Amino acid sequence: MSLFDALEKRRSVYALNKHLPLSDEEVVDIVKRATELTPDAFNMKSAHAIVVMGKKHDELWDAIYDAFGGKVSREKIDGFKAGAGTVLFYINQNKVHALQEQFVSYAANFPIWANQANGMLQSNVWSAFAEKGIGANLQHYNPVIDSTLAEMFDVPEDFTLVAQMVFGGIAAAPDDKPADDGTRVRVVR
Ligand SMILES: Cc1cc2nc3c(=O)[nH]c(=O)nc-3n(C[C@H](O)[C@H](O)[C@H](O)COP(=O)(O)O)c2cc1C
Repeated sequence: MSLFDALEKRRSVYALNKHLPLSDEEVVDIVKRATELTPDAFNMKSAHAIVVMGKKHDELWDAIYDAFGGKVSREKIDGFKAGAGTVLFYINQNKVHALQEQFVSYAANFPIWANQANGMLQSNVWSAFAEKGIGANLQHYNPVIDSTLAEMFDVPEDFTLVAQMVFGGIAAAPDDKPADDGTRVRVVR
């Protein structure tokens, strides 16, 4: 499959189930390879991931439901819980701070670059999942859930949670995407 085939296949899939087309080890391998291959500013390697699967995935979404004290509907949370796993994306702030101290004139840029690199990683994992027939959607229940997850998964204090990617077997494909208007790229020669 070409890169653009995978990019076309990557969609927000909300109808997920626990029947993955790959083994758990192969799924973890996708996240590891994407993490190794995704670039970061000054090669600071600020993006980290925790792959939550099986029973822990169900516990995660129950804990997220509890963290919101009933403000997020049970039905919505159960939709995510129906998936097979969740990738938690973090920024290692220690690495960001170290580079800020080392390159003072760029200090303000490092947090922005760390966010950009994290987004690149999220995109790469999402597309790599799509290429293998794994559906996924991207959620942002941080920062409300940060302390709950830190305790559940023993997350280092200097890690900041940036996104939660729910994944699983595709129970139903999303509707076709509306066509882009094609006006966002300008060429000058
Ligand atoms: C940075 C970013 C943040 C997003 N946050 C959420 C989110 O919190 N919840 C959600 O359901 N979808 C979220 N999405 C998914 C977008 O709504 C979705 O990608 C967009 O509507 C295009 O649809 P597609 O993913 O099917 O191509 C996010 C996407 C990006 C790139």
